[in-house]
Amino acid sequence: MDIKIFDKQVDAASYTVKIFQAAIDQGAEVFGLATGSTPIPVYDQLVASDIDFSECVSINLDEYYGLNSDHPQSYHQFMADHLFNKKPFKKSYLPDGATDDLPGELARYDQIIQAHPIDLQILGIGENGHIGFNEPGAPMDGHTQLVQLTDSTIQANARFFTDPSQVPTQAISMGLASISSAKQIVLLAFGANKADAIAKTVNGPLSNQVPASILKKHDNVTLILDQGAASQL
Ligand code: GLP
Repeated sequence: MDIKIFDKQVDAASYTVKIFQAAIDQGAEVFGLATGSTPIPVYDQLVASDIDFSECVSINLDEYYGLNSDHPQSYHQFMADHLFNKKPFKKSYLPDGATDDLPGELARYDQIIQAHPIDLQILGIGENGHIGFNEPGAPMDGHTQLVQLTDSTIQANARFFTDPSQVPTQAISMGLASISSAKQIVLLAFGANKADAIAKTVNGPLSNQVPASILKKHDNVTLILDQGAASQL
């Protein structure tokens, strides 16, 4: 894993935007995108850039199960607000969290990923090492699935909801195998609350107890960190 450490998140974001540009220059057309507070500075800089995604496809990692796409806290809305409304793609895919045909939706999403192999995948990381919504114990060979969120993830995400009891307890998430199939992966982590997860990802064993450790098997991964997230390396 290539590790880059920055003093300022804005510089980490600029570096990530350069990776997007380089990928596009090399013909990348499919981008795997993430939600959470961490990638927001990247999306802000992508919006401000002259990068053109109008011939590209985006595939998001996950969506809360049980939220309509127009729910203010849905990942559909997050992506529309932070990126898609300002910098549209030819086509943007997210799981349908309000599906009434769950098996059909999981299969549909896997087919989308298969039909559009991801050139560059952006990831954040949870405090427990989760990527997407693949919590500790997730199968390493997993594809799109319904996942039960851990209490710590529900608590961490409660900050985005006006009523914390409204945080969904389940999500539809791309699996670890799907994430690993991306040609290039960039994981961003900011803040000392991510330091333990980053240290375990980099220095610990490859184990599904730390889902991000699956990235050890991949040959094109860059970790983009601030000093806080790197503080236990
Ligand atoms: C959620 C998302 C993850 C994200 C994580 C961390 O669980 N499903 O993709 O990496 O939150 O979010 P944040 O960047 O806000 O710390």
